[in-house]
Amino acid sequence: MTQPRAQFSSSFGFLMVASGSAIGLGNIWGFPTQAANNGGGAFVLAYLVLAFLLAYPALMAELIIGRHSNTNIVSALGQLSPSPMTKRLGTGLGFVGVITASLILSFYAIVAGWMLAKCLQPLAALLGADTAAQWLSRDGIGRDLSLCLAFSVWTCWIVAQGINKGIESWARKLMPALLLILLALIAYVFTQTGSTAGLRVYLVPDFSRLSDPALLLGAMGQSFFSLSLGVGTMLIYGSYLGKTLAREQSPHKAYRDKLPRLGAIVTLMDSGFAFLAGLLIVPALYVAQAQGLEIFAADGKLMAGPSIVMQVLPNLFATMGTAGQWVSLSFFALLTIAAITSSISMLEVPVSVVTERTGLKRPRAALIISSLIFAMSAFIVFNFDQMFDAVIALSTRYSEPFMGLVLCLFAGWILHRDKKLMQLRDAQGLTQSWFWRIWPFYARFLCPLFIVLMFVQSLR
Ligand code: PHE
Repeated sequence: MTQPRAQFSSSFGFLMVASGSAIGLGNIWGFPTQAANNGGGAFVLAYLVLAFLLAYPALMAELIIGRHSNTNIVSALGQLSPSPMTKRLGTGLGFVGVITASLILSFYAIVAGWMLAKCLQPLAALLGADTAAQWLSRDGIGRDLSLCLAFSVWTCWIVAQGINKGIESWARKLMPALLLILLALIAYVFTQTGSTAGLRVYLVPDFSRLSDPALLLGAMGQSFFSLSLGVGTMLIYGSYLGKTLAREQSPHKAYRDKLPRLGAIVTLMDSGFAFLAGLLIVPALYVAQAQGLEIFAADGKLMAGPSIVMQVLPNLFATMGTAGQWVSLSFFALLTIAAITSSISMLEVPVSVVTERTGLKRPRAALIISSLIFAMSAFIVFNFDQMFDAVIALSTRYSEPFMGLVLCLFAGWILHRDKKLMQLRDAQGLTQSWFWRIWPFYARFLCPLFIVLMFVQSLR
């Protein structure tokens, strides 16, 4: 007898797991400086609007396919395709999603390893383990590989424990901790000189910047990455939610489908967290400037990405004495937690495909796939200059939007026509709700159109 498919224990569990996937390194180092550099409050506003108008319907496409098909991305796209020929195409496209998720994880785990090193270093110093602290602070292939390996083992171990005991239980504990650490750090940064200047740069709107279409498309790309779209993560999480929702749904309120609301909460938590992260990062950069540190890159813009996290902020923490070690520890714990809850969701994509399609046991599948992905990470570390940026561009700029498009088309054109689904929906009276009236139009026309535009823009 095969085991019944695991399900999240409640919609709260789903919310922690899905927002854990969405809230990641992208929110903390991608969004804040992008906003500060591109019109401040105006960008924040545009980002929120885009997240709800375009990324949210795409998220719903994945959740709906997952809930409906009750399986992983490869089997779902295969099953949905109507003819034997298109089934093969659907299956093939599913594998593109799996490869994309694995590629993202291969570079994400390297970055997460850096975060782990920066998190353990002040801990080692506070505990008096000076040799370890020194080793952790020295850049080098040995350190990068060891910490990437440690992070990969941690990710693999959580996924191997399964949906409830592994993924859900860790997300339930880590997500509230993440929010608390972020709030504490924001409060601390605002006691420092320079922070209000940063707040102004982050929030005072410059609407003239919004007429630039490239900027809006950039914001759209950011929101796709941030909501973990286009790789099958949200699809597989949606598939662990079907029975949970059926159980929670009260018979009197059957017409009120919970899924659109849950998707909206995930979108809100993801954008809200990105916004809060901006309240930490941009003011912290201006505190660093008040300390005499350089915060602008050669092109005159605020530094972004790894350079702030790996250089500017650590240098700032170094000026703060012992308090700085605690701040540093909390800051890198924040990034490490954000990274682990996203990484488990990426690993779940290939693991679910392999366990469901071959019958291999979860721990073994997790171990084999993690080893392959770690081999890829190691390959990137050894060929860093040629590979790192290329893998990021391939997976996030090309493959993710492409698969986002595919998933919207499947949900909007194929699934929507599915007779069984229509019957089910009509029986529940779901067609009456505004979501079901508007969403199909989005999934069929608007989302694909915008994704194509984004794509063309990124090719230029
Ligand atoms: N959403 C994550 C972040 O913001 C990245 C991610 C992409 C996670 C794709 C899962 C799948 O960092």
